[in-house]
Amino acid sequence: MTHGIALVGCGSAVPAASVSNALLSERVDTNDEWIRTRTGIGARRVSGPDEPLTVLAARAAEAALAHAGWSAEDLDLILLATSSPDDLFGTAPRVQAAIGANRSVAFDLTAACSGFLFALITAGQYLATGAMTRALVIGADQLSRWVDWDDRRTCVLFGDAAAAVAVEACPAESTGLLGFRMRSDGSRNGCLTLAQTAEHAPLLADLTAQRGGFAPIQMNGQEVYKFAVREVPAILAELLDATGTRADQLDWLLLHQANQRILDAVADRFQVPHGRVLSNLAHYGNTSAATIPLMLDEAVKDGRVQPGHLLASSGFGAGLSWGGALLRWSGPQG
Ligand code: ACO
Repeated sequence: MTHGIALVGCGSAVPAASVSNALLSERVDTNDEWIRTRTGIGARRVSGPDEPLTVLAARAAEAALAHAGWSAEDLDLILLATSSPDDLFGTAPRVQAAIGANRSVAFDLTAACSGFLFALITAGQYLATGAMTRALVIGADQLSRWVDWDDRRTCVLFGDAAAAVAVEACPAESTGLLGFRMRSDGSRNGCLTLAQTAEHAPLLADLTAQRGGFAPIQMNGQEVYKFAVREVPAILAELLDATGTRADQLDWLLLHQANQRILDAVADRFQVPHGRVLSNLAHYGNTSAATIPLMLDEAVKDGRVQPGHLLASSGFGAGLSWGGALLRWSGPQG
């Protein structure tokens, strides 16, 4: 690898409507106390008919471009991490058209709640080899489309959002991606699915074809919880070890926002004070591929994350998939 990767801008966009736990309990048999105690979630955003994924992702992209001081024409690559595309053939090209990034190639990457981290690492490889110079990595999801709003075990957890990070090639010695790890375990896929429905339609006399369609999210919450509190600390420990980093050198833990209890368990494992664990679950819930850049954008814009800060990040979720990255925030250049 000849180049490093600098994280130079970020932006986000959320739907207008916020649904508090109290409001949700008018729709499904739940209550604020149960949801807050078990998850830390207080409210989530839900997209309306005029807020398709493309619109939210394009707003986040434009905010990140403005923060980086770039024009859309500067982009070589747009990578959109999502599990809830507007178009199964790919939503990134729609975002490309919406923001006028005419020179770039744009495509989707699907890895559920690990999607943003996997996309950031993937984009980083194009920059590291010198094949590309400037990329926008977007995490965007609208799981409100795919939850069963009558299933209280899942619908309380998720929300909608889009967020983006601008990354550019830089000298190797000043890289902002100091190390990474990525894993999948498809043998545990059944723990958390948004799966194709097994519908069939007669096509010819002796041929039955499949019919497209997806069932709402199915989750074994306790298995997912156990997976997260075992695998996230393990992969972060491996990453810290490989990069020669001590936990007390970290400025922030920037974890996928699934559940406050998971964030606390990971922090305790590394003896990171809870004040250095970024969390905005209370306002947005689990926005899947969007959580990490949404949290980063909030913490950069309110001044908590400063240029030069070291962050240990981990994404984890359906697949099952999980990963870790050691990041240094650069901020806008000049
Ligand atoms: N409101 C009120 N009661 C509820 C609700 C609700 N929203 N949901 C479940 N309950 C009830 C159940 O019916 C059950 O009642 P019962 O004992 O009378 O049958 C009781 O609460 C306990 O249910 P459990 O499912 O055992 O609850 P648990 O303590 O495991 O908590 C939770 C559930 C919060 C989902 C937890 O398992 C968890 O956090 N898992 C991680 C899952 C996760 O974060 N998924 C996100 C997607 S994946 C990712 O991003 C990593």
